[in-house]
Amino acid sequence: MAAKKAGLQGYQMFIGGQWVDAAGGETFESLNPYTAKPWARIPRAAAADVDAAVEAAWAAGRHGSPWRSMTASARGALLCRLADALAAEADRLAEVEVRDNGKLIAEMSVQCKYLTQWYRYYGGLADKVEGSVIPIDKPATFNYTVWEPLGVVACIVPWNSPLLLLAWKLAPALAAGNTAVIKPSEYTSASTLEFARIAQQAGIPDGVINVVTGFGGEVGAKLVEHPKVAKVAFTGSDATGAAIYQAAAKGMKHVTMELGGKSPNIVFDDAEMDNAVKGVVSGIFAATGQTCIAGSRLLVQESIHNEFVDRLVALAKTARMGDPMSFDTQVGPVTNIPQYEKILHYIEVAKGEGAVTALGGGKAARPECGDGWFVEPTIFTGVRNSMRIAQEEVFGPVLSVIPFRDLDEAIEIGNDVVYGLAAGVWTQNIRRAMVMAERLEAGTVWVNTYRAVSYMSPFGGYKRSGLGRESGQEMIKEYLQQKCIWISTAEEVPNPFVLR
Ligand code: NAI
Ligand code: MG
Repeated sequence: MAAKKAGLQGYQMFIGGQWVDAAGGETFESLNPYTAKPWARIPRAAAADVDAAVEAAWAAGRHGSPWRSMTASARGALLCRLADALAAEADRLAEVEVRDNGKLIAEMSVQCKYLTQWYRYYGGLADKVEGSVIPIDKPATFNYTVWEPLGVVACIVPWNSPLLLLAWKLAPALAAGNTAVIKPSEYTSASTLEFARIAQQAGIPDGVINVVTGFGGEVGAKLVEHPKVAKVAFTGSDATGAAIYQAAAKGMKHVTMELGGKSPNIVFDDAEMDNAVKGVVSGIFAATGQTCIAGSRLLVQESIHNEFVDRLVALAKTARMGDPMSFDTQVGPVTNIPQYEKILHYIEVAKGEGAVTALGGGKAARPECGDGWFVEPTIFTGVRNSMRIAQEEVFGPVLSVIPFRDLDEAIEIGNDVVYGLAAGVWTQNIRRAMVMAERLEAGTVWVNTYRAVSYMSPFGGYKRSGLGRESGQEMIKEYLQQKCIWISTAEEVPNPFVLR
């Protein structure tokens, strides 16, 4: 599958257990954000390829297929085998991710090992999904429920953490007995194709996992519209999420949506200041700010504002930029050119709105950044929450600092955005912590920590940040539907003309 063509690594798609080119023979290049040069050639799928992938997934999930005939225990064991196979290749997968999306090898090598836990966790859960027997209010009647898979699940994934965000969807989908068609981002398709090879070698039956690569409008939209797709599990921008939700409605499809954020990281005057500074820095500059949970609004109590900003700038300044493949690098490039331009545009918007540049504020023209798409870690003070820089998702290393007086104002400002993905609170006062946790409109609230996620803990958004949750025990139900069975044990069917 990986023949070198003209210096670029060539990839094929994975449909029905076969490695194939796009039916139309078209391809596109994937770029390395550090060198700004193409490194891989990826099939550019179209409607016919989507159709083939969905048909393969649908057939693989039918009654009588090897997958559908497997016991839940065997399915779970297979997912654990997949986890082991992925763990054995985690370092290689991390390198592919870094080459394609420019995130730090230091982060991706940990992430590629950790994401195997989703397959183990949901593998373990596969045979613990139980229906119930209902003591129904009718004589001579046995009433029980079973949970059944939905069918074909479309997993549509963005570029910031391709394999991790795939695991959040695919692990519960497969554990529940569904089949899948995966559409990775056009900026980062390679790691998902490598993943498919590992899944094939681990013994996942043909057609259970399919990968179609290409562009959102050409491949993603066709996948969402396909009548044999039962559910769309999506992570990405809220605009695309809304378009998918609308298209899915036409086919009455299930959806889970994990969308953007403008999360407040809130520091009170009694916080352990060194810890809070570290938490704020990792909240916005980790992954070059390209995370849905980025703590992009720093709300800091007025009385400590100046001292906190000084300490924050002092730490952020030390960030080593450069080759993401080096374990010493702390801030890498932006993943793609449109995103790079978008971040630089927002920096100009902030300046135009009167924000004060306390750090950074433009392209990073440092020798160690080479030709890569680097943006300086940027901190703006003097931001009002009504400004665009405080309201709109930048998805980059740009922090807005907003002062607040007291707890009530922190809540008011914290909640005054359309998003509600996450929030951080830094205080040593238990009452403050608990009142904030109760009143912040966010799917995740971190107290004296930031960016923690786990396969065990439900994750998702309030408001425009999404629908449904991922991870945790209950979320396997997002990939199941309940059937209720009624059995009469009466000797005689009653007179149909006498209603009881
Ligand atoms: P996007 O949301 O448009 O793309 C995400 C995935 O959806 C990709 O696989 C894409 O091909 C696919 N897609 C695009 N249009 C589609 C459609 N009409 N139907 C079905 N699938 C479709 O995100 P994009 O263009 O990569 O980035 C744009 C912005 O989104 C970023 O600037 C950032 O603000 C935000 N974003 C948020 C993420 C998050 O984790 N919340 C992740 C990535 C981007
Ligand atoms: Mg790339």
